[in-house]
Amino acid sequence: MKKYFLLCSLCLLFTLTQSFGQSQAKLSLQPGTPQLTISKHIYGNFAEHLGKCVYGGFYVGENNTKIPNTNGVRNDVVAALKKLKIPNLRWPGGCFADTYHWKQGIGPKDKRPTMINQWWGGVTEDNSFGTHDFLNMCELIGTEPYLAANVGSGTVEELTDWVQYVNFQGTSPMSKLRAENGRANPWKVKYWGVGNEAWGCGGNMKPEHYANIYRQYSTFMAGDKLFKIASGANSSDYNWTEVLMRDIPHHMMSGVALHHYSVIQWDKKGSATNFSEDLYFATLKSALFMDELITKHTAIMDKYDPKKQVALVVDEWGGWYDVEPGTNPGFLYQQNTMRDAMIAGTTLNIFHKHCERVRMANLAQTINVLQAVILTNEEKMILTPTYHVLEMYNVHQDATLLPLELKSTDYTLGADKLPAISASASKDKNGVIHVSLVNIDPKKAQDITITLDGKATAVTGKILASASMQDHNTFESPEKIKPVPFKGAQLKGNNLTVKLPACSVVVLELK
Ligand code: AHR
Repeated sequence: MKKYFLLCSLCLLFTLTQSFGQSQAKLSLQPGTPQLTISKHIYGNFAEHLGKCVYGGFYVGENNTKIPNTNGVRNDVVAALKKLKIPNLRWPGGCFADTYHWKQGIGPKDKRPTMINQWWGGVTEDNSFGTHDFLNMCELIGTEPYLAANVGSGTVEELTDWVQYVNFQGTSPMSKLRAENGRANPWKVKYWGVGNEAWGCGGNMKPEHYANIYRQYSTFMAGDKLFKIASGANSSDYNWTEVLMRDIPHHMMSGVALHHYSVIQWDKKGSATNFSEDLYFATLKSALFMDELITKHTAIMDKYDPKKQVALVVDEWGGWYDVEPGTNPGFLYQQNTMRDAMIAGTTLNIFHKHCERVRMANLAQTINVLQAVILTNEEKMILTPTYHVLEMYNVHQDATLLPLELKSTDYTLGADKLPAISASASKDKNGVIHVSLVNIDPKKAQDITITLDGKATAVTGKILASASMQDHNTFESPEKIKPVPFKGAQLKGNNLTVKLPACSVVVLELK
């Protein structure tokens, strides 16, 4: 009897692991009308003075002899971020930005005043990583800086001085000071955030009040080529977007921000690694909600700006869980599993779909904080599953969106369901087509048949997958999850068939 049960259980297990879903798609190999570009800037990152993101993450100090560095910035981090091709990096916050006084972070390091990082652990900030350090680091990485200015506790003068300090070519009080501090030529910073989360840590303002403040600050930010971004809505606060679009003249702002985190419950976020399928499902549901959010914020923006001149800038997104046991709760240090790979893949596909309006975005955050692409521990550095998804996907940067119609089967859990497959396609400047596919179902593989409207002769690909959705890289096992060549795609005439394993991300290349 015991043997019989064992046999039956094994049969069931086999059937379950072999169970396949069927999905269909139609892909046009020619761009639609209008022809839309996936801006590389939706692949932006975010570095806040928070926990070990800047200190211990990017920056280990000029005198560090154990960790190879250039002017205090880790060489391994620079190399990894170059490979990732991050197009822009937001700094210094976050909530920290509205407490930051940039003049405290310039000049001789031993003379810089200290401050208390009131939002993130109450630790002492010694200002050793400041404007020069950040902007020079961006040059090293080959990324564009995105400076988030202090509106909540700063002044208009402080911000106009910052703009002059980093951008003014010629002789001025601030450019003189910059030269005295070792930098003759300006950095020419284009991207500027005018405050952060003005509805919360940036000043607890009402949208009407912030819209007025924005107009005031924006007036004095000199330079026509600045891309000024208004502090945007918290997730589904549609009224915030409505008021900003109505009350701020559009020639004064290039973008309106939006923040949305994939979180289960703010007071009970759950472990980053030890989670049930229920919690996995809830996280993915929150991640996929990004599609509805963008659709609704876009509809409001379309009402005031039908020509889509103002961009929607999702400058904070990603998964947010409880911190790793034993770490400072104010440091937001969390591990990164295949669940995060699913968030990254599906979110980027959503951004592609809305690329006409979403022209910039920033994953929160780059190192050791929230959905990080890199984790460090003293000399050691590991790349997370999220890093690998962003790297696989970077072929879409500045490529032309291709029309893709997808009919996905459902990933069901109890009475609830989500589309199992998320997909996106683009054509790069050399005519190469890339298709990114995500199967969020952790139990079922998917057979996808893609009918091509056009001709392709060869398909290759890469896959990121692992046996379980809780799998992650560790300092002991840094390469447990990494992309490998994908053999599950076949071209037969106009049909591309793909066998997508459970909980996997695939990027195909068609020629
Ligand atoms: O990314 C962490 C924090 O989340 C940021 O500082 C803030 O803008 C948001 O609430």
